[in-house]
Amino acid sequence: MLDIKPMAGALGAEIHGLDLSRELDNDDFLRIRKLLNEYQVIFFRDQDISAANMKSLALSFGPVQTHPAYETVVGFPEITILESTSEKPTKIEAWHTDMTFNEHPPMATMLKAEITPPKGGDTMWSSMTVAYDALSYHMQNFLESLNAVHDFSWGFKESLAEPGGKERLADAVAANPPVRHPVIRVHPETGKKAIFVNELFTTHIEGLRRDESDALLAFLFSHVKTDEFTCRFQWRANSLAIWDNRCTQHRPINDYFPQHRRMERITIDGDKPY
Ligand code: SIN
Repeated sequence: MLDIKPMAGALGAEIHGLDLSRELDNDDFLRIRKLLNEYQVIFFRDQDISAANMKSLALSFGPVQTHPAYETVVGFPEITILESTSEKPTKIEAWHTDMTFNEHPPMATMLKAEITPPKGGDTMWSSMTVAYDALSYHMQNFLESLNAVHDFSWGFKESLAEPGGKERLADAVAANPPVRHPVIRVHPETGKKAIFVNELFTTHIEGLRRDESDALLAFLFSHVKTDEFTCRFQWRANSLAIWDNRCTQHRPINDYFPQHRRMERITIDGDKPY
């Protein structure tokens, strides 16, 4: 029996009563899928699962992706390591949707906490369907006519500016030229509309003057951070989050330096946003 604890008005629920280290049967999987559509981000506690378990759970949603820039778990090129230490603090700071520099950004992401700081290091999510619904009818209509450009090099500009960064990321830059996505996308399962531009990867809106594009993006980047659209999760080791990357943005709260935080992440293939 699943125990579901919604976390905030807009999105997020903690799910208790499921052991993710065992093979999920079809009913369990369909329930997770339904909960993900309903809550957009779902959380599980005390899941001491191996990298192999995590990969097989991700594969039950669909093919998994690799990331062009992050280090990966030995033997699991699909599982990226997001680690922050006193020597190498994290650079992930802005609100974003994962990997929108891809033609086919992930449909979902799974993130598991391996090492958590004694305090701090939470993550926030924001619902892009709730953010869309809160706009006026005229703004919704205008945004629906627009496309925006998303760029890997823009998202990784700090890493590229580091000594040796250009050389290290040369293949990733070459393999990921800028791509275009609609500013508002339709969720392929729920049919809901969602804002699909983000501060990390979106460079500009096509067809607008640069100052118009900058002003509109500045408005949207601020709008998506509205407290009422968000939820916040406090990690413990072996907590696992699964979020729908088609209708959410997220941001880690980097308030724990110089403590150590290590997460493992896997992303699941998505379709081309429309
Ligand atoms: C991410 O941005 O995908 C990672 C979020 C986190 O480390 O909390």
